[in-house]
This record gives sequence, C-alpha cells and structure tokens, in this order.
Amino acid sequence: METVTTLADLRLAVDELRGGGATLALVPTMGALHEGHLTLMHEAAKHADHVIASIFVNPRQFGPNEDLDAYPRQMAEDSAKLAAEGVALLWAPTVEAMYPQGYATNISVAGVSGGLCGGNRPGHFDGVATVVCKLFNQVRPDMAFFGEKDWQQLAVIRRMARDLDLVLPRVEAIHGVPTVREADGLAMSSRNVYLSPAQREQARAIPESLATAKAMLGEGKAWAEIRAAAEAVLLGNGFASVDYFDLRDADSLELLASDNGKARLFAAARIGGTRLIDNVAVT
Ligand code: PAF
Repeated sequence: METVTTLADLRLAVDELRGGGATLALVPTMGALHEGHLTLMHEAAKHADHVIASIFVNPRQFGPNEDLDAYPRQMAEDSAKLAAEGVALLWAPTVEAMYPQGYATNISVAGVSGGLCGGNRPGHFDGVATVVCKLFNQVRPDMAFFGEKDWQQLAVIRRMARDLDLVLPRVEAIHGVPTVREADGLAMSSRNVYLSPAQREQARAIPESLATAKAMLGEGKAWAEIRAAAEAVLLGNGFASVDYFDLRDADSLELLASDNGKARLFAAARIGGTRLIDNVAVT
C-alpha cells in the first residue's frame, strides 16, 4: 500500500491507479481504525477495482471544548490494518495540506444538519461537509463508503452531493454501510477507547434503550411514554445525561411521533466525559 501526504503525490498515485479505466472507491476516516472501518474497506473492495482510504483528523468538525487533542492517533497501526485489508492507497494529508494558509471556504448544509448532533455540536456538520467535499475533489472517486452509525452525517453528505451537483462520486454512489456492533450490541466507535471498563459495561444501555423503544413502538405505545422509558434505561445505567432520544424520518430527519414506515430511532448520551451515539431502523 502506498501512502501519500501531499496533493501532488495523491494526484499522481490516483492517475496511476486509474490506469486503463479502473474504478476507485474512497473510504474517508479519521483513523483509530476498528472492525467497523475495516468492514467499510471490505464493502468498498466488493464494488471497485481499488480502494483508497483517507486518514485525517479534521479540526473543523470539532467544537472548541471537544476532544480534538485527545482524539486517538495511531498511524502506524492503522496503516498496517489497511495494508492487510488490501487497500491500494492511503491519503494522509497534514492539516496544512488540507487547509493551507488563507483557507476561507465553508460548506454549510441547511435542514439535515439541524437537530440531533447538529443541535448539540454547532458547526460540526459544516466541518464534515467541507472536508468531505474537499476529499471528493482531491481523490475524485467513483464511489464512497460511510458507516450508518453516523446516519445524520450520511444524510448531510448526500444532500451536499446533490446540491453541489457533484460528479464524482455521484450521489447514488455514496454508500451507507450498516453499523458494526460488539457482542453486547454496542456500536463500534473510535471513541469507545475513552470508556473505563465499568463504563464500557454500562454503555450497552445505548443499544438497549433503542431496543426498548423499538419494542414499545411495535406495541403501539405513545411516543412520550416510549422516550421516557428509553431515557430511564440510559440514566438508570450510568449515563449522566441524554443529549437526544428521537424518532425521525430516515431521509428528511424530520421529527416523528409514530412510525411512518421509514422511521429511525436516534440516541446520543454522555457517560463520564464520553458522548456516544447510535441509531436503528424501526422496521
Ligand atoms: O466519520 C468520520 O470519520 C468523519 O466524520 C469523516 C467522514 C472522515 C470526515 O472527517
């Protein structure tokens, strides 16, 4: 696997990989790779001739009091995992290469960026949309792969691709890959490493709260009762606070009070200093 850190080297490497018309898949990441990321690489390899991964801890998507400095960085380990997965090229730009002196452009996607994580993390999705648009323009992949654990992020990226008429990847070629879970149901996340053993044990309350809500929806219970029961599962199992527990339309992300046939449940809650998110389809 080749690793490139400058745009000039990336362009040369991408041209070489494209060779006689080979197709390219991009899997953007912030590193600290776990089984969920490797599943994205694996899915990408099923669809394209070559997989390109990027690792870039994007400062623009972290708020002033968030974990930018603490965010796990383990380039050597990540690089070995990607090579073992058969990834052809790793794009690992520095902050200066991504945002050179004088950088001034921001992409803001209205609507789907509001509420959920957008409500708790102002500016977060501007940072995501901006860096993903740049990554798309830098690599010009035929397709791209993202985890469904960050469902709202996927909605923001698809909206941006539609609104900006992105040619590569076309919006239809932006794939969401189902969340990979630990044995007890906890969604895999790079932030799970922040959890103490006791917190890790309690963190299973996130998927449990979603399962409780899903079962109650199936029983036809009222949404207020469902939300209260789900929050009780979280707060009764060591979570300090619940940022949101919502039922929303899977595409528009509009709030719902009952299943509309394409509803999803979304949860974000804090345990110790760590904020965990998850979501599931209702049907
Ligand atoms: O999901 C992530 O790891 C990041 O938000 C992404 C898409 C790589 C953009 O920095």
